[in-house]
Parts: sequence; structure tokens; C-alpha cells
Amino acid sequence: MMIALLLTLAVVVSLPWWLPGRVVALRARLFSRINGDEGIPVPGDLVGVERFREIYSHPAAGGRSRGAALSDLFWYWLSPGPEMHQEHLEAGERYDAVARVTRDLLAVPRGEAEELTRRCAVRTLGDAGGFVRLRDLMMPLWAEFSYELVFAEPCPRAARDLIIGNANDVVTSLKCTGLRHMERRHRLTRYLTARLSRVRLPLPPDLTPREQAFYLQGAFFNTAVVQMSEAMAHLLMVLAQHPGVQERARTGDSRYLDQVIAETLRLYPLFGIAHRITTGAIPLDEDAAIPAGSVLCFNYPEFHRAGFADPGRFDPDRFHRPVKELNHIPFGVAANRPCPAWRLAPIAMRVAAQEVLRRYRLDSSASHTRSLPNRGPCLLTPLGAARRSPRAALAYMRVRDRWEDVWRSLVQLVLGTYMVWDARRQRLCGRHFDP
Ligand code: HEM
Repeated sequence: MMIALLLTLAVVVSLPWWLPGRVVALRARLFSRINGDEGIPVPGDLVGVERFREIYSHPAAGGRSRGAALSDLFWYWLSPGPEMHQEHLEAGERYDAVARVTRDLLAVPRGEAEELTRRCAVRTLGDAGGFVRLRDLMMPLWAEFSYELVFAEPCPRAARDLIIGNANDVVTSLKCTGLRHMERRHRLTRYLTARLSRVRLPLPPDLTPREQAFYLQGAFFNTAVVQMSEAMAHLLMVLAQHPGVQERARTGDSRYLDQVIAETLRLYPLFGIAHRITTGAIPLDEDAAIPAGSVLCFNYPEFHRAGFADPGRFDPDRFHRPVKELNHIPFGVAANRPCPAWRLAPIAMRVAAQEVLRRYRLDSSASHTRSLPNRGPCLLTPLGAARRSPRAALAYMRVRDRWEDVWRSLVQLVLGTYMVWDARRQRLCGRHFDP
């Protein structure tokens, strides 16, 4: 009896060390069973690391949504209006019109972009000291930033709440830590539809007002807010866990911070996989070709590890070398629909990080993974405050994070399986192209 009790206790106490990993593996197996093994991994057996860029840049690697079961899942997560999301529009006139507006809205001179970021940081960082989740800390800043980019006026509090509600809902469902709440997202669509005439540049005239609102919601109030908040959560986590780097970033010149940003996005790229559907055959050698209609799955984390010594180690000094020589594509590849914010995002991230570092010292003992489902737990101590040792707070944070991980991994397994099944059932992308 006593032995059985002790064994049960040992199993329960050790849960955080083995259960989350097993659940993640089980989830991956379940997802690929439900989704089918339709993708060709790149790099993989067919295409090695050395041809990664060449195949990604190939003109026939251009299909975005049509013909891949995987697209049903992304459309489900990005609803409403995924058919108008720039990321998922097929090449053609509509795509060109939308991409032009995005480029123009993002073409902010460097000085103005820095000033805008600073203004939004002052308004949103406030007195945020204590225990925070970095993604939550950052979302109001990028909600305000995106709003000003689009409307050229300060973001009202009610609009900020709508934007955060929408972005949070999308990223939470993407990470499978929560289900979709469509009404929250529709509220933002209604708000944007009513304000279309206030957008600071003309929107594509061939789109209906509803399509214009979906386009704005997808690119600026969903992707922009989610990606910037995630990128900043990674950056601040890295600083919180490397005190030497944090100090140098606080006191050194901004070039060092740029290296830290580059290394953060190498180790924690925001895209795990970007997929493309081939619109024609891609020859590999004299005998072999990737046939038209194949789904290519470009694996960012794997590409970013290849060719680096000790690739798992965080080392900003790697970026002394010109980036072009390195396997580093945090914003995609130039020849195949790269991120339109590739110039603006690092500028804004640097200023936001400087604003945080000017105010707080950061410490974190929580786990830091690429998908960051814990939203980046961190202790912020105001810089002027008397320095107490954070050791006890960090010990508590570590234990709590481990136990949260047990519960969260089970939630992700159940909700993720449900959403993959529901997305297959709804077939949003499949039905759009083949009703
Ligand atoms: C650090 C922040 C960001 C990172 C690391 C990032 C990364 C990426 C990557 C890797 C892609 C290309 C994926 C592919 O090849 O399929 C992409 C596409 C895209 N990103 Fe970003 N992004 C960031 C911020 C933003 C922001 C602020 C916006 C604002 C509008 C944005 C809008 C888009 C859009 C619209 C696309 C689709 C491009 C197209 O297909 O034409 N991203 N992003």
C-alpha cells in the first residue's frame, strides 16, 4: 500500500518533466493523421538545405492556398475573411492591388517609424512593473501602432480593446490554447467597415466594403499585431534570460541590439512552416522533378539551424557577418512573397525594446520555446527601484511554469484535435475554390 502510494506520488510529481513532451508528440501524430501526409518537407530527402532558397524562389512555387488541405486549417484560424487575407490570396490582380496598398501603408520613413513606436510605447507601457506575460504586455503597443499606420490618428481605447480582442483570439487558437470566438472577431470587422472612409490611403476600389474591411483586419489588425507581439515577446524573453546581453543592449549602441534581434529571429522564427502549392513542375535533376500540385512545406527553424556552429546556442555575435551569407530568412525570401514589413518591423522592434530597457530590468526563469504558449512570463523591476534579489520570485515562476505546462499541453491536445477536425469539416478553403 505504502509503495503504491509512493509510486503514485512519484509519477504525479514528475509529470512536468515528461508529460508535456509526450503530449506534443502525440498531438503531432494526431494532426498528421487527420490532415494526411500531403506535404513535401524542405529541407528533406528530396530537397536539401543547399537548394532551400532556390526551390522557395522558383516561379512555380507560387500557389498559396488552392489545393492544400493544410490551407483549410489556416483559413479556419484566420477567419473571418481569410479569402481576403494577403497571405492567402492567389497571385493575380486582386493580390497585386492589395499588396500595393500594404506596401504604401508600411512605407513610413525611418524617423517617423521610430517616433510612432516611441509614442505608442509611452502610451501603453505605463507602470507595468511586477509579474507580466510579455505577449500581453506588447499587444496594446502594436494595436496602437497598427491603428496609427492605417488611420493616421491616435487609437481610441475602445478600438484598441477590439483589436486586442481579435488578435488575442487568433493567436490563442493558432497555439491551440483556446477555441475561436467569432463574435469577438466580427465586432472588429463591423468597426473597420464603418471607418473605411477614414483610412489614410485609398483602398483597392474593386473590392466591396466588406472585402476591404477583411483585408485590413487580416494584414494590419491580425498579422501585424500578432507577429510584432510574438517577436517582441521572444526578444524580451531572450534579454530576460541573458543578463549580460541585456546589460549590453541597454548601454551599448543600437547595432548590437540589431544583432540581438537577428539572432532572436534565427532561433525563434515566427513561421514554423510556410507552405506553397506548385503551379508547375520544378526540375530537380535530369531524372527527377517535383510535380505540379505538390505541397512544399518550408521549414524555417531547420533552415535557420543549418550551417551554424552550435546552432541551439543564443549568440548575437554571429551577426558580425553579412546576413546574406547566412541561412537566415526571418521575413521569407525576396523572390516569393516576402513579408512586406521586412524593413519596418526591425526598426520598430529596436525602439520598443529600448523603451522597455529604459524602464525595467527583466528576469525570467520560464521555458522559452518557439511556439511560446506560456506567452512569456517575466518579472519587470523598475530600473530606479531598490534591487531585491529576484531569486525567490524566479524559483516560484519556474515551478509554476512547469505545472502550467502540464495542464496546457493537455488543453492543446484536446482543443487542437477538435479544431483540426472542425477545419476539415468546414473546408473553408476547399469550398471557396471548389464549391
Ligand atoms: C517581426 C515581425 C514579423 C515577422 C518575423 C514576419 C514574418 C513573415 C514571413 C516569414 C512571411 C512570409 C511567409 C511565406 O513565405 O509564406 C510574412 C508574410 C507576411 N507578413 Fe509578416 N512578419 C512580421 C511582421 C509583419 C507586419 C508588422 C505586417 C504588417 C502588415 C506583416 C504582414 C505580412 C503579410 C501581409 C504577409 C504576406 C505577404 C504576401 O504573401 O504577399 N508582417 N511575414
